[in-house]
Amino acid sequence: MRVVTTLEDLRRARAALPEPVGFVPTMGYLHEGHLALVRCARRENASVVVSIFVNPTQFGPDEDLATYPRDLERDLALLEAEGVDLVWTPTPEVMYPPGFQTWVTVEELTRELEGAYRPGHFRGVTTVVTKLLAAVQPQRAYFGQKDAQQARVIIQMVRDLNLPVEIVVCPTVREPDGLAMSSRNTYLNPEERRAATVLYRALQAAKQAYDAGERDAERLRAIMREVLAQEPLARVQYVSCADPDTLRELEGPVERALLSMAVFVGSTRLIDNLLLGVEGGVYPRYRPPGLTP
Ligand code: PAF
Repeated sequence: MRVVTTLEDLRRARAALPEPVGFVPTMGYLHEGHLALVRCARRENASVVVSIFVNPTQFGPDEDLATYPRDLERDLALLEAEGVDLVWTPTPEVMYPPGFQTWVTVEELTRELEGAYRPGHFRGVTTVVTKLLAAVQPQRAYFGQKDAQQARVIIQMVRDLNLPVEIVVCPTVREPDGLAMSSRNTYLNPEERRAATVLYRALQAAKQAYDAGERDAERLRAIMREVLAQEPLARVQYVSCADPDTLRELEGPVERALLSMAVFVGSTRLIDNLLLGVEGGVYPRYRPPGLTP
């Protein structure tokens, strides 16, 4: 496994890789969720590239950029064990050189859900992902359903910009008690860690109601809110039952729905979601027209 930092080294190493190349962009501090993406990329491609870059532009001024967990040595050992071919660890100066002034923005989709509470977040994500894709030039890139809006926004961006890359969305990986894996789970103390399962329990309660025939969007939101209200350590930011394509809030009877929420447990902000009425519970892979499988 090669580890490179500069663009020059990345381009040289990338050019020597057997095709097709699968790419997993990450911010490091890897967990089983990331490794599931790497394994999926490994199965589907001759070569696997992973980037590790804590992208400053997707953090708001009051968010956790300074304290975001990092452990490069451990990350590299995990990636080596998964048979990754190339790891790119660019510096902020490589990604945002002095005078940087070009941004990629997906408009409507980023006004909803996370976008409403994290202004500028998706502009940072779409800009950095565009730059990572342009540099790595993979045939396929892998994202987790855990960040459902991010996956939806990136598919839209790839479509709108005619980027020649297939986007593959992989299922959320959960702890045995249902908590979605996230690098931010490390912020939780033991009591908060126990309380954090309430997100999954709320989603499951709504899913059970849906499976039993409940179709009213407001009722599904109410079921999630009722479960969340029972956990004293949880402070709800939003609870949503939205159209999986437009991400707009649904009213009345629903067939396909993205149930999602953002909840503070102590001072840690957690998000989770379930996709109802969609095969496999993940956004279908997006293959741009004309790309060979
Ligand atoms: O999902 C993440 O870890 C980040 O948002 C990504 C896609 C690596 C961009 O910084």
